[in-house]
Amino acid sequence: MIMKRSGRWGVRVGLLLGVVLLSGCDFLFSPGEFKPHVYLNWKSEDTATTMQVHYHTQGAFVESAVYYDTESRGGDASLYRFKATGTRYTWPGTERAVHHVELKDLVPGQPYYFITGDATSGFTPERKFKTLNPDSPRLRIANGGDMGTGELYGKITEIAASYSPDVALLGGDIAYEDGNPQRTRLWDQWLDVWTSKMVTPEGFTVPMILAIGNHETNLLKSFSERKIKAPFYYSLFDQNSDERSFFVRKLTRDSTLFVLDTAHLYAPFGKQREWLVDAMEKNKSVRTKLAMYHAGIYPSHRSYYNPHNMLGRLSWLKIFDHFKLSMALEHHDHTMKRTKYLRDGKVVAAGEGTLYLGDGAWGKRGRDIHRDSWYLDRAEEFTHFWLLDLEDSQIAAQAIDEKGQVFDTHAMPRISASAWKQIRIPRFVNDSREVRQQIEQNQELRPYLELLKGE
Ligand SMILES: [Fe+2]
Ligand SMILES: [Fe+2]
Repeated sequence: MIMKRSGRWGVRVGLLLGVVLLSGCDFLFSPGEFKPHVYLNWKSEDTATTMQVHYHTQGAFVESAVYYDTESRGGDASLYRFKATGTRYTWPGTERAVHHVELKDLVPGQPYYFITGDATSGFTPERKFKTLNPDSPRLRIANGGDMGTGELYGKITEIAASYSPDVALLGGDIAYEDGNPQRTRLWDQWLDVWTSKMVTPEGFTVPMILAIGNHETNLLKSFSERKIKAPFYYSLFDQNSDERSFFVRKLTRDSTLFVLDTAHLYAPFGKQREWLVDAMEKNKSVRTKLAMYHAGIYPSHRSYYNPHNMLGRLSWLKIFDHFKLSMALEHHDHTMKRTKYLRDGKVVAAGEGTLYLGDGAWGKRGRDIHRDSWYLDRAEEFTHFWLLDLEDSQIAAQAIDEKGQVFDTHAMPRISASAWKQIRIPRFVNDSREVRQQIEQNQELRPYLELLKGE
């Protein structure tokens, strides 16, 4: 099974290689600057009893393995009570294997100590992580995107880690390699900083959940060959058992995160939109729904009428409003923004609409903003990350810059659990044909129909 997956991908790379060579590119990966890079995310929506561990090896290895325990074992593989094995991708043209090992049947909110590797490739030093606790009175989130590999990225990451977040929600544009497999070095630099700095003062490695951004993809029109269009996004993070770049993650017992793709690999109005309606229906009874995606639908730098932003509004806004989305995390503009509460394209009272936070500047320098837009409550040109404390009665949000200064705070009220129980959300009436027609009739949006190829 493992070799089949790696092999099939290799064949696909091979098939496209000829085409790519014609365009003067080389689709083989460059070797980069190898390090074992141990990092964490999830492959299933269950963040309480599973964890996915990734690590890299160079040259010979025996298996993809993680040894783990609820107590420290000092890095001695023979002492850990549990072991899990997984899959790996070998980057074509290199000796580098990226290993993915999913741990299952874990205890919620439990610290685990672990090492990765085998006797041939060597073992990595012991690290520890904590599964999310669905019943914890507070979930602490660090959110941002548009990072890059510069000094500001390192500074923000260090500050974010100092707040001991339970999870990092990364909204795309991570290493800015543009889906070019020759730019392995950028990912090595990004991962080197992430794995060394995104460790809390208590020593926990912080797991991440990633949305895809435009800078994770290349310009190839191979929408049916997504692993070639976004070679690092898939091979490094393996967040789904299929190729979907949109998925659900449970955050707590009464909060769910919807991770979406703003037209980088999937059209927001095609299969993804049908999936979103279905996923929202399934999570209808969940009190707090968060969404994370790359390109905002209420931008603070780009124009409100930018086609990409219009596409998001046209595809998703009705769904967000219908299912009472609490908060949307947006990125891509390299600015800081917090909107007013919005519903049906209008400003509403707190608690009656969705709050849109953004706009992706965890490392990138801020761009200019259009502060006077009707939907913005606060916008700044600052590099920052968002710290979100999800508590029973509110989501406390703080924007924090590279000096550690908190320059914006906002408390979003959460509806009480008992009041939420009284609310009935009717079934969403399928309107995909109308949405499709509107896109076909709009000259600026029509090119996005190409994304439907291969769906
Ligand atoms: Fe960006
Ligand atoms: Fe972007």
